[in-house]
Amino acid sequence: MTADQLREKYLKFFESKGHRIISGASLIPENDPTVLFTTAGMHPLVPYLLGEQHPAGKRLTDVQKCVRTGDIEAVGDTSHLTFFEMLGNWSLGDYFKKEAITWSYEFLTSKGCLGFDPARLSVTVFEGEGDVPKDEESIAIWKSLGIPAERIHALPKEDNWWGPAGQTGPCGPDTEMFIDTGKAACSPACRPGCHCGKHIEIWNDVFMQYNKTADGRYEPLQQANVDTGMGVERTICMMRGLSSVFETELFAPIMVKIAELSTTPPADPAIVQRAQRIIADHLRTATFILGDPKGGVKPGNLGANYVLRRLIRRAVRYAKVLGIGPGFARTLAEIVIANYAHIYPELQEKCATILEELSIEEERFEKTLTAGQREFDKISSALKQHGQTQLSGRTAFKLYDTYGFPLEMTEELAAEQGLAVDRAGFDEAFKKHQELSKQGDKTFKGGLVDSGEITTRLHTATHLLHKALQIVLGSHALQKGSNITPERLRFDFSHPDKMTPEQIAKVEQIVNEQIARKLPIMLETMTIEAARAKGATALFAAKYGEQVKVYSAGDFSMEVCGGPHAANTGELGKFKIQKEESSSAGVRRIKAVLEGN
Ligand code: ALA
Repeated sequence: MTADQLREKYLKFFESKGHRIISGASLIPENDPTVLFTTAGMHPLVPYLLGEQHPAGKRLTDVQKCVRTGDIEAVGDTSHLTFFEMLGNWSLGDYFKKEAITWSYEFLTSKGCLGFDPARLSVTVFEGEGDVPKDEESIAIWKSLGIPAERIHALPKEDNWWGPAGQTGPCGPDTEMFIDTGKAACSPACRPGCHCGKHIEIWNDVFMQYNKTADGRYEPLQQANVDTGMGVERTICMMRGLSSVFETELFAPIMVKIAELSTTPPADPAIVQRAQRIIADHLRTATFILGDPKGGVKPGNLGANYVLRRLIRRAVRYAKVLGIGPGFARTLAEIVIANYAHIYPELQEKCATILEELSIEEERFEKTLTAGQREFDKISSALKQHGQTQLSGRTAFKLYDTYGFPLEMTEELAAEQGLAVDRAGFDEAFKKHQELSKQGDKTFKGGLVDSGEITTRLHTATHLLHKALQIVLGSHALQKGSNITPERLRFDFSHPDKMTPEQIAKVEQIVNEQIARKLPIMLETMTIEAARAKGATALFAAKYGEQVKVYSAGDFSMEVCGGPHAANTGELGKFKIQKEESSSAGVRRIKAVLEGN
């Protein structure tokens, strides 16, 4: 089975169980300052898990692009990836454990679906903790389906609980499904959840019935939901009996090219294999981030930009290990694009930007990498000679500031030499530098606060701005990207020229007039075709017949959008454009604030 067939089979299966197929969301969350990337299919659905009505109903299914860099160190083994596609089915207060588990089992094992031998399947469930009891119900359901007790493992929260770590929001116990690869067990204690590679997790059914509060309590949600996630790459790898996800057709052409480009691979095949996998994984992820329809993420030193930079620079460093010459990032991205464009046409549309940004970042880093590596080697051998075990924060900062080494890369290089890095010292040096250069007060490590109301107002202001730009500049001035933090909105739109001061003043004036008119914001749900027919701006891909939410601000603007929005434009305060600049060829960027907010 190919990945194309798997996506299709999954969606059709859940459609046959009463689910509506919805489009996956952007990799870059538009109005949520609490995460840098979409990390799971549930992420864009949080408002609906909390009780808001989804326009497509209570049973949904989709394919979601996800980026997770929490496991970046594990990339290089057989199954870990920083980008992956997640197949999901949701119940928004509709069915619960029995149906979810029964359908998972049916899809995994029945002949018309994946046809896995049930004897290879083992599962884990939540063992209980505090107020939340052991998940006896899931155990009973698995048993009723024929899974014997010895292949049902009850595990603690760190294994069988899902919810954005450390944050507030919907969460709950889960049951995870593993396929036995047939490898020998690493020890008598080896079981699903062990990382030796014998049992590969391919699917997770989460029973989201709690809300984690800011003070760390778990209160029951008003509705019990199901959130599931099946990894496309891992599942086809297991179905075809391949020894790693890198052998699937999603990676194979990239891996072939990497081997072809390698001029001086080290003698140890394990080192070669790990480097090849890291390069392939990181550049695939970087390609998807740069090719995201919402755009706005470029290699840089803050937030999502920093994650992207780190991925590209790490790939460049491992390319050096294999003796891969300059220009490889672009070459590999071209293969990723060709491999995925039929499913994700945005990659083809953004091809020029992707290749350009990768080339620039690769070159930028190339210039200092060799010198930085030399500096690092000098420092580390001096430290070791003196019996030291730690590299100072100041040195790590110098490698960062002068040679462009992301902190995590220095930590990795240091670990290879048995050295630790003084992170606190690095942070201190970083802060001092920032104060000196007066570059603002946010470090790349985030400090992003959840200021829901302010971002909601900025989001409404974004709609007013979008419309005002079209009035002042013309109907071509369409949104190309949007990003909101509690401090400001950022909006990219197509327009060939720099805006004149008069145009900027006019746009501000129009937006402020709409604020003064105290327009109510109305939400309606309709099909995408109906929305277009009513004249709503609808920029992002939706499937034919898909139900969408349409927000209008009085008679002034109407857009297809996920929300949320302010109730009335009168809440917005004074709109002020702080900056108008070029974003890329033919695209301008505005940064604006709401004063008095
Ligand atoms: N949200 C669950 C996961 O990501 C399905 O594993």
